[in-house]
Amino acid sequence: MEDNREKFYSIVTLGCQMNEHDSEILAGMLEKMGYAENKGKNDKDIDIAIINTCSVRENADKRFFGMLGQLKKSKENNTNMVVAVCGCMMQQQHIVDTVKSKYPWVDLVFGTHNIHEFPKLLTNILSERKKIIDVWEDGCEIIEGLPSKRLYPFKALVDVMTGCNNFCTYCIVPYTRGREKSRNMEEILKEVRNLAADGVKEVMLLGQNVNSYQGTTIDDSGNHIKTDFADLIYKINDIEGIERIRFMTSHPKDLSDKLIQAYGDCDKLCNHIHLPVQSGSGNILKRMNRKYTKDDYLLLVKKLKKTVPEIAITTDIIVGFPGETEEDFNETLDLVGKVRYDSAFTFLYSIRKGTPAESFKDQVPEHVKHDRFNRLVDLLNGITLEKNKAYEGKLEKVLVEGSSKTNNKTFTGRTESSKIVNFQGNKDMVGKIINVRVKEGKTFSLFGEIE
Ligand code: SAH
Ligand code: SF4
Ligand code: F3S
Repeated sequence: MEDNREKFYSIVTLGCQMNEHDSEILAGMLEKMGYAENKGKNDKDIDIAIINTCSVRENADKRFFGMLGQLKKSKENNTNMVVAVCGCMMQQQHIVDTVKSKYPWVDLVFGTHNIHEFPKLLTNILSERKKIIDVWEDGCEIIEGLPSKRLYPFKALVDVMTGCNNFCTYCIVPYTRGREKSRNMEEILKEVRNLAADGVKEVMLLGQNVNSYQGTTIDDSGNHIKTDFADLIYKINDIEGIERIRFMTSHPKDLSDKLIQAYGDCDKLCNHIHLPVQSGSGNILKRMNRKYTKDDYLLLVKKLKKTVPEIAITTDIIVGFPGETEEDFNETLDLVGKVRYDSAFTFLYSIRKGTPAESFKDQVPEHVKHDRFNRLVDLLNGITLEKNKAYEGKLEKVLVEGSSKTNNKTFTGRTESSKIVNFQGNKDMVGKIINVRVKEGKTFSLFGEIE
């Protein structure tokens, strides 16, 4: 008998924007298959529940297993529900083995390289009702033309490359996302033009290491020529309708003078860069395999500030990497004081199975890590507050994202420099770029008034 009942999906996404974008693709494929997003419905109405996992730190792993535990109850109340898990954790055999042995209510396991196969896998599960585990070791070429259900109508995530070749000694990503692969430039431009036609104003170009993008395009005489990330920015800057260009994440070792110059030349390239430094100590940077020194990094910052004096710089810092001494840590504090970051993500070093740093002998004791972490955060927060206070009185262009969760008259958006601004507004402003006068700079946001 044909089942005409409406079908619902839920997707929980852990991890970075690459995962967020993968979830948008999963949602796009599910909607094409006739499923609707489960918005606040009871567990027993969900037909497929997906957890898209992250493996970057131990906390992410723990969150996943916690969620999986909760799904057991949901599955007991709703035996027809398909439970699927995917993403970076599934690219590790020891995790798949644990899921298999301890979480028998999981129906489908797939990885980061075969997302495009998901509709087929789901159809097989539904027809045969037996467990499927399908994880590929590495991907084929990038699959173009997959549907995507964007979270916002006015801003979009756009993959430009996937994978990572850098093998920082602490990091799991090269093992879970495979080697670097760049999309063809024409495909990216086509996608961005379509997004602009669809009303998108801001694009976030995504990749673990966007500035090592190496594409090809066809020149005016029909020859295939090599292109780099800066070329891509210049081309996107010419696309009518797009008003803001952002990218995530760039590696300091690949930040070329040409890309820095693009900040000066491309009016749509937002005056913000996320440039993860990880540590200020040359010794630790070497052991992390980051391939730059503290001085190299400071020189990049100098060039960026020279090209765009008002540029906002944000970063990632790991505290307590194996062998980090008090002296090494002081180098990090010194660097933070010199760069004066607009904000930073700080992480306690977390041992990742299978990475080189897992076997480094000189692991830093937990209490030392925590103490350094707190000192670093205090320094960063003080600088962030000073930087945000310097915005007071300035008129900023803000792309309005929506209303605040707690107050439907307070709206929130981002400046070009990616600072969160809250202000009193109305829902007609959502998706528009409006002028907001900053009244108060706080540690984590700005408060302003519309002008
Ligand atoms: N590709 C990006 C970031 C990838 S992961 C880049 O290279 O900059 C995001 C951040 O997580 C990293 O910048 C790093 O600061 C942090 N991170 C990665 N592995 C970690 C680990 N084992 N322990 C603690 N933090 C880690
Ligand atoms: Fe991980 Fe380093 Fe690659 Fe970033 S560049 S994803 S930190 S290995
Ligand atoms: Fe996590 Fe994978 Fe992103 S490990 S940070 S979801 S690439």
